[in-house]
Amino acid sequence: MATITLLFFLFLQLITATISTTPPPYNATVYVLLYCGAQSATTDDTDRRWDTDTHFPNFLPSNFSSISTTATASEQDPSINRVPYTTGARIMRSQFTYTFRVTPGAKFLRLYFYPANYSGFNKAESFFSVTANHLTLLSNFSAFLTVSASSSKQVQKEYVINVDETQILKLTFSPSPNSYAFVNGIEILSMPTDLYIHGDVTLSGHTNPYNINNSTALETLYRLNVGGNLVGSTEDTGMYRVWDSDDAFVVGLGYQTPHFDVDITYTSETPAYSAPRIVYTTSRTMANHSQSLDWEFPLNSGFYYLFRLHFCEIQPEVQEINDRSFSISIGNQKAAREADVIQWSGG
Ligand SMILES: *[C@@H]1O[C@H](CO)[C@@H](O)[C@H](O)[C@H]1NC(C)=O
Ligand SMILES: *[C@@H]1O[C@H](CO)[C@@H](O)[C@H](O)[C@H]1NC(C)=O
Ligand SMILES: *[C@@H]1O[C@H](CO)[C@@H](O)[C@H](O)[C@H]1NC(C)=O
Ligand SMILES: *[C@@H]1O[C@H](CO)[C@@H](O)[C@H](O)[C@H]1NC(C)=O
Ligand SMILES: *[C@@H]1O[C@H](CO)[C@@H](O)[C@H](O)[C@H]1NC(C)=O
Ligand SMILES: *[C@@H]1O[C@H](CO)[C@@H](O)[C@H](O)[C@H]1NC(C)=O
Ligand SMILES: *[C@@H]1O[C@H](CO)[C@@H](O)[C@H](O)[C@H]1NC(C)=O
Repeated sequence: MATITLLFFLFLQLITATISTTPPPYNATVYVLLYCGAQSATTDDTDRRWDTDTHFPNFLPSNFSSISTTATASEQDPSINRVPYTTGARIMRSQFTYTFRVTPGAKFLRLYFYPANYSGFNKAESFFSVTANHLTLLSNFSAFLTVSASSSKQVQKEYVINVDETQILKLTFSPSPNSYAFVNGIEILSMPTDLYIHGDVTLSGHTNPYNINNSTALETLYRLNVGGNLVGSTEDTGMYRVWDSDDAFVVGLGYQTPHFDVDITYTSETPAYSAPRIVYTTSRTMANHSQSLDWEFPLNSGFYYLFRLHFCEIQPEVQEINDRSFSISIGNQKAAREADVIQWSGG
């Protein structure tokens, strides 16, 4: 089994500019939203409709009824969304493969877990691995231990994986010895070609193409709306991405700039689906040369990380090259010496 490199997106948006019309949302061509083990199709509190996996025998292994069971959490915590968490789960006692037939290309894969005692199963005893085709996404994973170490009671994992010409996405849950696997929700969504997997990084006039090959998957660790509030999945540009507030990550002074209610001109290099307008109209800025704006992120060692920074110059005072120029460091490495959004964007 090939090991994968989980990369990480950091979406930072600092300061930004330009004017235009309401961005047209991205229309997903593949959109699977499954509430696993649920009794029937249900709508979540953002009006997204989740169908139950039992309505789609083609997705399930033929022996699904002997190797899995459906359940509802015994603990109904009112602070947790019912859909897709507490009123449905598929509990798998042996290796279980969902098979999805989807078009080739990069897809978002989102997995939703609510660790609870499901009809006779002890939540502390669930350890399992998850693979997507040949990529290992989770290994001896415990949703119970994951939430025990965090402030939230549910786990959402987001990956970007490539589906090849066979058009098959096999999602396999494998319980560790003497254990069981479970999942509450599965979401599969197409994305614009080349959004994350291929692209050009332009710095100081030099274009550096990057290419993440088809054997590599990405896992989203942080996606932040800098200087603003959480942007919920239905406020995204059609990909149902969640953009968290950066408040918990900014360290030191963290100047927050007032929201500039300006229009944003998207371009062919930065199409309207790149990020919602609110991400580009909230920011943090600073003027003092002897200080810096800093964020801190807990990460795991042993992986490569992809950082994506979004910039839009929205302050009317900043018009010319050199009106605002700054450097960017990631870890102890200088990523850009003379970052200048007016120059990068060609004005
Ligand atoms: C997306 O679909 C909606 C409804 O079908 C349509 O009105 C809209 O123009 C489409 N947008 C794009 C970018 O294709
Ligand atoms: C269920 O079916 C799959 C093939 O579809 C097979 O590999 C697996 O061994 C079966 N599991 C059990 C417990 O019979
Ligand atoms: C879950 O089940 C275990 C084993 O039966 C039990 O010790 C634990 O208290 C239960 N937890 C909850 C929250 O019910
Ligand atoms: C999975 O993790 C648990 C808890 O750390 C450990 O006891 C168990 O041996 C691990 N199992 C495998 C197959 O690695
Ligand atoms: C990666 O997969 C996509 C979709 O199947 C395909 O179009 C592309 O050519 C592949 N790229 C490489 C380098 O194999
Ligand atoms: C894909 O990229 C990874 C990371 O750069 C590399 O380790 C791996 O060998 C590449 N695989 C192929 C088939 O090119
Ligand atoms: C800039 O920051 C330094 C160090 O914190 C401080 O001493 C100085 O007064 C600041 N200057 C202005 C103009 O705020």
